[in-house]
Amino acid sequence: MESFSLREATIDDVPAMVAIENQVHVAPWTEENFRSELAKPYSKTYVLTDDETDTVIAAYIVFWHMYEECQILNLAVALPYRSRGYAQLLVRKTIDFALKSGAKRLLLDVRKGNIAAVQLYQKLHFTTQHLRKAFYSNGEDAYAMVLPIDQEEAEWREF
Ligand SMILES: CC(C)(COP(=O)(O)OP(=O)(O)OC[C@H]1O[C@@H](n2cnc3c(N)ncnc32)[C@H](O)[C@@H]1OP(=O)(O)O)[C@@H](O)C(=O)NCCC(=O)NCCS
Repeated sequence: MESFSLREATIDDVPAMVAIENQVHVAPWTEENFRSELAKPYSKTYVLTDDETDTVIAAYIVFWHMYEECQILNLAVALPYRSRGYAQLLVRKTIDFALKSGAKRLLLDVRKGNIAAVQLYQKLHFTTQHLRKAFYSNGEDAYAMVLPIDQEEAEWREF
């Protein structure tokens, strides 16, 4: 099986990310959404690309790091690369970043009906803070989830 590695995204990766967005998200991001994130000093985008050409994107994650909080804004795994642990790898990378940057919590919103994503985050010890009623443009509710980043606990917890 081909091997994949993580690196920070560049503008050149935007068309491939948008192609994945259009296949996997209910409300896909546009090129402009990704470009605007790449330009923000507090925003990070990581892509998982194939080692052979570094052009095939299997998955990506976008998050903000602001003072004591990190927040996941987008996460997607392309359809042929599902169930290989790639989403877990990307969220763990974000947790690791949050730890190293001294953040106290990692936040995200997830569609209530997105069972795969909710289970992914629960597996990684996120808990639901509250429900945001009709948070999305189609009226769907969101779970606001949080993972406290305990710097001392992190020394023994294996992310
Ligand atoms: C949710 C998503 C990111 C999971 O990606 P993935 O790489 O297939 O997930 P992983 O292989 O890392 O799975 C990790 C855990 O997530 C959960 N999970 C993943 N897919 C699942 C599914 N179809 N049903 C239930 N749980 C699922 C499981 O807990 C799994 O752990 P396990 O393998 O021990 O059972 C992917 O389905 C996706 O891109 N969905 C569309 C975009 C999206 O919903 N993004 C999240 C927005 S908040």
